Amino acid sequence: MAKEQPPRREQTWIPLRNRNESNTKMKLTRCGKITLGITVMVIAAVIIGLIVHFITYGQTPLYYHISFKVNNIDYDSKFEKQYSQKYMDLNEKIVSLINETFHGSKLRRQYVRSHVVQVSQAKGKVIVHSVLKFTFCCKNKAAKCRDRIETILHQMLNGETGCLHIDSSSLKVSEMEMPTAENLLNICCGHRRITFSGNRIAGGMDAEVGEWPWQASLRENGVHRCGATLISNNWLVTAAHCFIKDSDPRQWSVSFGLLLNDPQLQRKIKNIIIHEDYHYPAHDNDIALVKLASPVLYTSNIRRVCLPEANYTFPPNSDVVVTGWGTLKFDGTIPNILQKAAVKIIDNKTCNKAEVYGGVITPGMLCAGFLKGRVDACQGDSGGPLVTADSKGTWFLVGIVSWGNECALPNKPGVYTRVTYYRNWIMSKTGL
Ligand code: ARG
Repeated sequence: MAKEQPPRREQTWIPLRNRNESNTKMKLTRCGKITLGITVMVIAAVIIGLIVHFITYGQTPLYYHISFKVNNIDYDSKFEKQYSQKYMDLNEKIVSLINETFHGSKLRRQYVRSHVVQVSQAKGKVIVHSVLKFTFCCKNKAAKCRDRIETILHQMLNGETGCLHIDSSSLKVSEMEMPTAENLLNICCGHRRITFSGNRIAGGMDAEVGEWPWQASLRENGVHRCGATLISNNWLVTAAHCFIKDSDPRQWSVSFGLLLNDPQLQRKIKNIIIHEDYHYPAHDNDIALVKLASPVLYTSNIRRVCLPEANYTFPPNSDVVVTGWGTLKFDGTIPNILQKAAVKIIDNKTCNKAEVYGGVITPGMLCAGFLKGRVDACQGDSGGPLVTADSKGTWFLVGIVSWGNECALPNKPGVYTRVTYYRNWIMSKTGL
C-alpha cells in the first residue's frame, strides 16, 4: 500500500547575488549564538558537576562495627557456626531490632542494613557484633555520624528491646573500612543482591551483573578454559578434567565478573587438588579444588554459593540453572557475557535408559537438561556451577558441569558431578 505523502514545505531561496550579505548577518548572529552556547554549556557543566558531586557523595556508604552484651542469652558453642539455627535466630532478632530502631529514627533515610557478623562471649553471656551500613552526605562527617548512631543505639538499648536484655553500658561503636565491612555484609552463602527476572550456553540467555556472584572463569595463561564456583574466600570447586593437559598452578588464574574480556577481579592460584580417583578418560570423580594465592573479599557481586549437606537429595524434575561462558552451540563460539540456562534434574535411572546414556551414569554423576534437548551446557562450561534455590531463595551448588554427548541434543542431557556425593571429600580437603 502506498504511503501518504507529507505536505510540501515552501522553500525560500536566497538569490545568488545576495548570499554574501545575508552570510555576514548570519555570521554576527552565529558569533552571538556561539558565545551564548558556550555560556549555557559552562553553566550546564557546573550544574551537572554539582549534581554528580552531590549524588556520589550523597551515596558514599559508611560502615560501623557495633557490639553489645546480651544479658539473658547464655553463650553456647553453636554460636561459632554461622549457619547454626541458634546463630540465625539471634541474627534475625538483632537485625529486626536494629532495623526498627533506625527506621523510626532521624537516620531512617541513611540507614541501609545490618548483619550480625560474630557472636563472642563475656562471662558466659553473649556479645553480639554487627556491621551497620549507612549512606551519608559527606564522608568527612563520619565521626559526627558515629555520635548520632551511638545516641540512637543508646536510646534503643535503654528502651523496649523485646525478649533481649541488652547491657547498654557495653555498647561500642567504631568506624569500619568499606572492603572489610562489605566482605562481612556479604558473607552469607547463596545470596545475591537483588532478585533477577527471566530465565545462551546452548539455548540460554545473558546473565546480569551480580546475578551469579559465585561464578568464576578458570584461565590457563589468561585464556578462559573452564568455569569454577566460589565456595569460600579462597576456595573454588571445578572439574578435574580441566587440568588433564596442565595442572601446574602457576599457569592458571581465576577471574570474576560478568564479562570475560573485562573481569572485575583476578587472582593467581596457589594450589590445585584433583580428585585422587579421577582417571582420564573415565568421567568418574570429575572434581577438583582450586586454592587462591590470596583470598577475595566478598562484595555484592562476588560471593560464595552454599554447599548442600552430603545426605541431601535434590528431587528429579527440580528447577536448576547452569551458568558459564561455554560455546553457544557444539563447536561454536564463546560469548563475552556470562550465560544462564534453566534446566531440570533428570534422575539417574531415566538418564541410564538405553536411548539416553545406556548405563554409564554412576552415583557420583547427575543429569540435568531435557530429553527433547535444546537447552544445555556446552564446551567451556565445564567446571562451572549447576545451582538451585531453596524456598527462601538461598542458592545451593547441585552439580559441576562435567560432560555430555555434544550439546543440547535430544536424549543427551548434560552430565554433572553430583556435589552431595563429594561433599565429604570437599570437607576433607578444605575444612568447609
Ligand atoms: N566437557 C565440556 C567442557 O570441557 C563440557 C561438557 C558439558 N556438555 C554438555 N553437553 N552438557 O567444557
